[in-house]
Amino acid sequence: MASESIHGMWSSRLMFILAAAGSAVGLGNIWRFPYLAGENGGGVFVLVYVGCIFLIGVPIMSAEILLGRAGRQSPINTMRELAATSGASRLWQGVGWMGAIAGFMILSFYAVIAGWAISYIFQMGSGAFIGADADFAKSAFTSLTGNVWSVVGWHTLFMAITIFIAARGVGKGLETTVKYLMPALFVLLVVLVIYAAATSGHFMEGVSFLFSLNFEKFSWSAVLSAMGQAFFTLSLGMGAIMAYGAYMPKDISILGTATIIALLDTTVALMSGLIIFPLVFANGLESSAGPGLMFITLPLAFGQMPGGQIFGVIFFVLVTFAAITSSISLVEPAVAWVVEKMNTSRPVGALAVGGLAWFVGLGSAFSTNIWAGITIIGDMTFFDTMDYVANNIMLPLGGVLIALFTGWILDKKIVEDQMFADTTYYPLWRFLIRFIAPAAVMVVFIMTFI
Ligand code: PHE
Repeated sequence: MASESIHGMWSSRLMFILAAAGSAVGLGNIWRFPYLAGENGGGVFVLVYVGCIFLIGVPIMSAEILLGRAGRQSPINTMRELAATSGASRLWQGVGWMGAIAGFMILSFYAVIAGWAISYIFQMGSGAFIGADADFAKSAFTSLTGNVWSVVGWHTLFMAITIFIAARGVGKGLETTVKYLMPALFVLLVVLVIYAAATSGHFMEGVSFLFSLNFEKFSWSAVLSAMGQAFFTLSLGMGAIMAYGAYMPKDISILGTATIIALLDTTVALMSGLIIFPLVFANGLESSAGPGLMFITLPLAFGQMPGGQIFGVIFFVLVTFAAITSSISLVEPAVAWVVEKMNTSRPVGALAVGGLAWFVGLGSAFSTNIWAGITIIGDMTFFDTMDYVANNIMLPLGGVLIALFTGWILDKKIVEDQMFADTTYYPLWRFLIRFIAPAAVMVVFIMTFI
């Protein structure tokens, strides 16, 4: 098997960690986690979420890195080759395909939300929110999302940035981007947590909301949301981490690295909660405001706070950076596949994949305006459907298949060869990946859908 990928390699362990953490840390942490925690009552949701991260997420992330590094190709071709060398069915390649499709579905709404975030950098910067009331904040959001031209414009800008970076390749594009944006992101986060702690006067209320257990809100659908969120936030189940694993040097420990990435990701999610909820409570706003939490409630809160204009700008710059380092990993599995399959260059692959993702994304862009009345499943718009099906069903399902393949099907020699640096925790990992992770996901599926 190849010792290097034709697409390029991360130059060090740190660069892999930054890239994978960049993929993991994104809108899932800053936009999705706080509003899900808010809707599902805080502490219990957070507890289930953290449990899923470490019992299911870290083992599956390790499996994805392992598969990627063993195959050194796009997830689709990696799965094909590893299934063949293990004497297993070619159908396992379907895991790669399902992942690529989930990637398009996720990007379709991801780029739209990221586009909104870019527009809020300018809205916050203009000072429009200073002293604004709730009606103003609501109407600012509905006039942005209700206007098909602005939504598509920002969505297009975000996708163009993604395509540009992906086109430059693994070293010059992805690695250079994460090398600068990830440290910047951490600095901005710390600045904002200090700001929330120092100025809101309600920091402890935010802390207790996130960490105190209130079992009244417990339900299996909240558990499914927490599990889906664990997959989404760690970028698991669709091949993003597998693709990044293909560019990881051989001498690096997998389990240790996956644990660091999960810790970083969880820290960022909790820090986002500690930025958002104190501001929400300080201004007497609703913690369960749903997807609008970041776009209506938070700008309103910033508008009431000293220095809110500048810190509001900082906040949305942070969100945009986090989204960029994730979206480049959402397109990578498909871009790598196009380059391998068509034998073409990165720019052509990036343009083809990004262009298609942009097109699918129009459906999500239209969901808050011209297609607002069109529902696909139940009362869910195109946008909601993509989010629900990809995150709550396809990612966990992809994750189970990855766990089963790595734990039961893949040639044990390949597994042990990749895990050579992880002898201490290898037996624990193997137990989790063979039994616990698949069983846990199945139980949640069954309890939610019966
Ligand atoms: N993990 C990213 C986030 O939390 C989203 C993502 C999902 C990225 C799947 C890549 C693959 O925002």
